[in-house]
Amino acid sequence: MKLLENPEAMRNLSENWRSEGLVVGLVPTMGALHEGHLSLIRRARAACDRVVVSIFVNPTQFGRGEDFETYSRPFERDSALLREEGCDVIFAPTVETMYGGSSLDLSPSGERVYVEAGGLGEIWEGEARPGHMRGVATVVTMLLNIARPHRAYFGEKDYQQLKVIERLVRNLFFGIEIVPCPTVREPDGLAMSSRNVNLSPEERRAATVLQRALSAAANLKQQGESSVADLVAAMREVYDTEPLVSVQYAAVVNADTLAPLNSLEGGPARAIIAARVGETRLIDNIKL
Ligand code: PAJ
Repeated sequence: MKLLENPEAMRNLSENWRSEGLVVGLVPTMGALHEGHLSLIRRARAACDRVVVSIFVNPTQFGRGEDFETYSRPFERDSALLREEGCDVIFAPTVETMYGGSSLDLSPSGERVYVEAGGLGEIWEGEARPGHMRGVATVVTMLLNIARPHRAYFGEKDYQQLKVIERLVRNLFFGIEIVPCPTVREPDGLAMSSRNVNLSPEERRAATVLQRALSAAANLKQQGESSVADLVAAMREVYDTEPLVSVQYAAVVNADTLAPLNSLEGGPARAIIAARVGETRLIDNIKL
């Protein structure tokens, strides 16, 4: 397994592989790897000749006062896990190589070119975290241009991010296949996340309410309920029982556009939820 920090070196290696006819897969991550990340890497390993995993805590997708500085960075542990998974290259650039020289100008009004995520970047997570989806769209564009994969793997855990990236790749003609991968959960249902380590034992117990609320909506739908208002009420009934959890949004949306739905007759739907558990912000979603 190789470790590369330099974008040019990464691109040269990938171009060489491509000229040999090898299929290249990319799994973008911010590190602090868990079974959710590893499931993406295993999917890539099974379908591609070469697997690149990027580890980069991307400053442009964090807002002021968010956890960029304190985001967990257990690099030695991550690289041991990646070696076990048969990853070919870890691409771990520095902020300076990605965003330029000594005079870092990350402000949206500065010299830097950003990729806007469109309307999909303004709602839900975009509204709760202004600039977040632009930061994601920008860094994913950079990573795809550097690693030049045939396929890139993303988790449904971050459903809105997945939809933004699918649209980005389609609208801007990247010619790369985006492979969605199901959410991996803890035995009690909590979606795995690098941020779960920040939860106190009490908060950790309370955090399962996100998945329980989503399941309540999905179960009601299974029973033939088609009123969105009833599904949303069922979610609220569950999360209201948990005083440690402060919900920011819980909604039933069109699975593609993420527009709020009035009725389930309007095509494939998704229930989405975001909440603060103590200082930690968690998100989750479920197919309806
Ligand atoms: P990160 O949070 O490290 O997640 C990397 C990838 O792992 C994302 O595609 C995410 O959806 C997926 N993932 C995380 N938890 C998962 C789970 N429990 N089950 C399945 N997949 C899961 O998402 C990012 O990093 C960044 O925004 C990134 C795309 C790397 C751009 O900086």
